[in-house]
Amino acid sequence: MNNILIKNGRLVDPVNGIDGRRDIFIHDGVIENVDENIDVSDIKTDISDVDIIDASNKVVMPGFIDLHVHLREPGFEYKETIMTGAMAAAAGGVTTICPMPNTKPVIDSPELVKDILERAKDAPVHVLPVGAITRNQDGSELADIEGMKKAGAVALSEDGKSVMDTLVFKQALSEAARVGMPVFSHCEDKSLVNGGVMNFGDKSEELSLPGITNAVEDVIVARDIIMAKEAGCQLHLCHCSTAGSAVFVDMAHKRGAKVTAEVCPHHFTMSDDEITEDDGRFKMNPPLRSRNDVKVLKEALRDGIMEVISTDHAPHGAEEKAQSMLNAPFGIVGLETSFALGYTELVKGGYLTLSELVEKMSVNPAKVIGIKKGNLGVGMAADIVIVDIDTEYVIDSNEFMSKGKNTPFNGKKVFGRIDKTIVDGKIVYSK
Ligand code: DOR
Ligand code: ZN
Ligand code: ZN
Repeated sequence: MNNILIKNGRLVDPVNGIDGRRDIFIHDGVIENVDENIDVSDIKTDISDVDIIDASNKVVMPGFIDLHVHLREPGFEYKETIMTGAMAAAAGGVTTICPMPNTKPVIDSPELVKDILERAKDAPVHVLPVGAITRNQDGSELADIEGMKKAGAVALSEDGKSVMDTLVFKQALSEAARVGMPVFSHCEDKSLVNGGVMNFGDKSEELSLPGITNAVEDVIVARDIIMAKEAGCQLHLCHCSTAGSAVFVDMAHKRGAKVTAEVCPHHFTMSDDEITEDDGRFKMNPPLRSRNDVKVLKEALRDGIMEVISTDHAPHGAEEKAQSMLNAPFGIVGLETSFALGYTELVKGGYLTLSELVEKMSVNPAKVIGIKKGNLGVGMAADIVIVDIDTEYVIDSNEFMSKGKNTPFNGKKVFGRIDKTIVDGKIVYSK
C-alpha cells in the first residue's frame, strides 16, 4: 500500500484551472482527492501508513513530459544508459521521456521498440520510445511504421538528420497519417550545412569557425509543413531555433495544418554572442543563434506559436566534448536544467505565467503524443513534481545524475530547484 498526502503547496494545474493552495491525496499511485484542506483524519480508516509531504512554500505541478531526449542505449552506454537518463529525468522533475531512435542499432523495428521498453521497465520514470522513419535512418526505405506503433512507439523521427529525399518523406507522412502517429521533424538541409559547427555570424567569424545559416533550418521547416499539410499528417517540429521557423509555424497554424513546434531551453536562454571561447560545451545542433532569434523564440512561446518545451538532452563523453567545436560532437545535456531555465528566463523574464510554463512542459507534450497525462485531476496517475521557486541556486554539472556533464550553463544562477518527483505515486527523486 502506498499513500501520500501532499500538504500546503501551491498547486498549478492548468487543465483543471487551478493555481492556488491545495492538498493532494494519492492512493495506490492514483490521485484520489484534491482539496483546500485534507487531514489525515479525513482519510478512510482502512488506509494506514500515509506519508505526509509538507509542500509549504513550494509549487506542486504535473510532472514534466520531455518529448525529445537521447538515452544512448543500446550502443553508446559510455555516454548514457536508459537508467542514468531516467534518473536525470527524475532529478529534473521530468516524469515521462521519449528517447530518440539514433542509437546503435537504430530503433527501426517492432522488436527493437519492445527491447527499449523491456530495458526501461525498472526505470524511475515513464519511457515512451520514438521509432525511426526509415530503416537504419538511411533515408531510403521506410521502417515498419505500423509495427512500431503496435509495439509501443509513440512517434516517428529521423532525429539527428532530416529525411532529405522529399518523396520518401512524403511516403512516411502518408503512412504515419494512416496509422495515426505524429512525425517529429529534425529540420536541417544537409546540402546547406557545409561543415558548419556553430551559428553563422559575427561570432563564427571572430572564432574563425564555419557557420550554419538560418536557412539550413528554415527551408526544411517550410518543406515539412507543406508536405504534412498535403499528407494530413500530424507534424511536430523539433528544436526550433530560428526567427524564420516561428514565422512558418504561425503561417501553418493560420492555414489549419496540424503542426506543433518545440523550443529547447538552450535556444531561448543563450545566444551565440555569449559564446566565450571555441569549446565543445557550446556546440549543439541546431546551434545557439543570434540575439534576435532568441527574442523571437521567447515571443513565439509567449504568443502560443511554439507550444512545447523539450530538451534535446544529448549526453556525450567528457573527452569528446573537451575539444574545439570543429571536432566535438553536437549536443548538450538538458534534463536537469530545463525547468530552472524555463522558470528563470520565461516566467521571471515576463514571457509566461507559471501555469503557461506548465502547459508547455507537461500539458501540450501529452497532447502531442496523445497520452492521458499533464493533469492532476482526481483519478489521474500521480506523476507530480514539487519545486522550490523562491531560492536562487547555482547550476553545478557535477551534481547531475546524467553521465553527460556537457552544458554551457555550469555556474549559472537560476531559480526553480526540483524538490521532489513522484511517478505513479512513488517518490523517485528527493533533493
Ligand atoms: O545536438 C544534437 N545532438 N542535435 C542532434 O540533432 C542530435 C543530437 C545527438 O544525438 O547527439
Ligand atoms: Zn535533432
Ligand atoms: Zn535530438
